[in-house]
Amino acid sequence: MQIKKYTFQIHGDDRGQLIALEEMKDIPFEIKRVYYMYDTVDGVRRGFHAHKCLEQILICIHGSCKILLDNGKEKEIVPLDKPYEGLYVSNDMWREMYDFSPDAVLMVLASEFYDESDYIRDYDEFLKYVSRNDK
Ligand code: TYD
Repeated sequence: MQIKKYTFQIHGDDRGQLIALEEMKDIPFEIKRVYYMYDTVDGVRRGFHAHKCLEQILICIHGSCKILLDNGKEKEIVPLDKPYEGLYVSNDMWREMYDFSPDAVLMVLASEFYDESDYIRDYDEFLKYVSRNDK
């Protein structure tokens, strides 16, 4: 599976580091929504869904976590632990997030507003959905 990771430009100086993200420049879509997870309870695994249209960039801006990506045919585990690195997650991609460090802050930039009808939360339904164009 092709994993698309972005390394953002760091504007560092003797005061510290700063990262700026602009839609259609650093981020390959228009950003309609930002959300983040923190204080994730030890051992929790979340996500367990895919999106029909939504695209996202995941950035672990503090601490670390792991992302499982599954396109219905292949799976990849991507560790995230750098505030200057973004993982692109396309539509039609099952994702699970886990192994959160106690200090982890996982920020998500999303291409659409929150819309429950864009979610596929059942794995078998996801497999059917992504194989819709297979012969
Ligand atoms: P949920 O979909 O369970 O998170 P995850 O897929 O990461 O496990 O979302 C948790 C709650 O937050 C749920 O009640 C829906 C709500 N929520 C919003 O209101 N807006 C959002 O943008 C997101 C991502 C979730």
